Amino acid sequence: MKTALITGVTGQDGSYLSEFLLDKGYDVHGIIRRSSVDFRERIAHLEGKPHFHLHYADLGDSMSIVKVVDKVKPDEIYNLAAQSHVQVSFDSPEFTADVDATGVLRVLEAVRACHLEKTCRIYQASTSELYGKVEEVPQNENTPFHPYSPYAVAKLYGYWIVKEYREAYDMFCCSGILFNHESERRGETFVTRKITLAAARIAQGQQDCLYLGNLDSLRDWGYAKDYVECMWLILQNDQPEDFVIATGVQHSVREFAYYAFKHAGIELEFQGEGLNEVGIIKSIAPQLSTVNSQLSTGDIVVRVSPDFYRPTDVVNLWGDPTKAKAKLGWNPAKTSFEELVKIMVEHDIAKIAAEGAAAKVRTNLAEYLEKGIVK
Ligand code: NAP
Ligand code: GDD
Repeated sequence: MKTALITGVTGQDGSYLSEFLLDKGYDVHGIIRRSSVDFRERIAHLEGKPHFHLHYADLGDSMSIVKVVDKVKPDEIYNLAAQSHVQVSFDSPEFTADVDATGVLRVLEAVRACHLEKTCRIYQASTSELYGKVEEVPQNENTPFHPYSPYAVAKLYGYWIVKEYREAYDMFCCSGILFNHESERRGETFVTRKITLAAARIAQGQQDCLYLGNLDSLRDWGYAKDYVECMWLILQNDQPEDFVIATGVQHSVREFAYYAFKHAGIELEFQGEGLNEVGIIKSIAPQLSTVNSQLSTGDIVVRVSPDFYRPTDVVNLWGDPTKAKAKLGWNPAKTSFEELVKIMVEHDIAKIAAEGAAAKVRTNLAEYLEKGIVK
């Protein structure tokens, strides 16, 4: 049985990768951080399984990583842990550099310190943000990098130190240059999930308006569940190599919003430009009118706020997955853009409906308690 160690196991990708590796028969070990609230929603269903184990460590703490690597002696390490929010990296640049840049070095050094460099394969979660202020479209493994945020600069160090250790110490360590990948487990402040949650709330009368930043920004969005397979394939390759992982299809933030609201029963029309652009309800699906009678055509449900603009923004990401298709046999077209949006919106409609129902039960219970009906 193979043993894998995943840093960032509580994150979107970590949770899907854990499921994927458990299905493949791996013994899976994950690194978690201490938090004042034990909020491990994404992996709660895996805890207690015989081949799923958790260890406390932090990418900012070398000794903690060495101890876990020495104890687990993994065949494969997937280094997914990071401060992964680009906008937050402008507010916490030093922390981002420590975890996303030096953290990678700590993982590589831990493997060397434990004398596992000849047996342990390492996957580094690299990113399309490296292309940043893009120098060509679409981007492939030979496109020059131009990082354009503290996050991207930190990740560039991670990319280069992996390459350096591969050549200097003959280690099997590789970077997957992954383009944006989303899911129903995506963090709620990334633009796709922010939109699908808002569309679900607005459709159910729980929110009036969604405030976004740059609607023109272009991304190559894929489904996270499909992308974790690629992380594994990269480590099963004969040679340690870096790969671009993307769908090869590009859409704007505005388009994502349009399709998300459409799946929620609201057709939008965008009018105006820049900070004055708005998303207006053009039509409402008949079945939605019966659920929420407060919605009307002409209502403004999307506005632009400068709060979500970035000091420098990456606006034209579009990946070319030719190498991954040819060498790894990976299928980038498993889940289309429209299917991805649908999966996320349907999930969030059910989530908001369940929360609404639970809130109603709580209100009724409070009322009953107040009136002395239930004691
Ligand atoms: P995510 O949901 O934000 O998860 C990040 C994970 O890193 C969480 O488990 C988090 O733990 C952990 N972490 C953060 N700081 C840590 C530290 N100091 N020590 C140990 N663990 C720490 O991110 P994701 O979307 O799954 O992405 C996974 C990786 O792929 C990241 O490295 C990201 O930068 C990279 N990436 C993501 C995408 C994408 O589109 N999703 C694209 C390219 C690259 P807590 O739960 O304790 O916070
Ligand atoms: N988050 C956010 N919130 N982004 C917005 C908003 C908003 O309200 N409005 C517009 N955007 C734009 C951002 O300016 C950016 O151009 C784009 O939407 C995508 O933003 P995010 O969803 O935050 O993702 P990201 O592309 O910056 O970063 C994600 O993908 C990278 C791979 O390219 C993260 O997962 C990174 O960790 C990952 O490396």
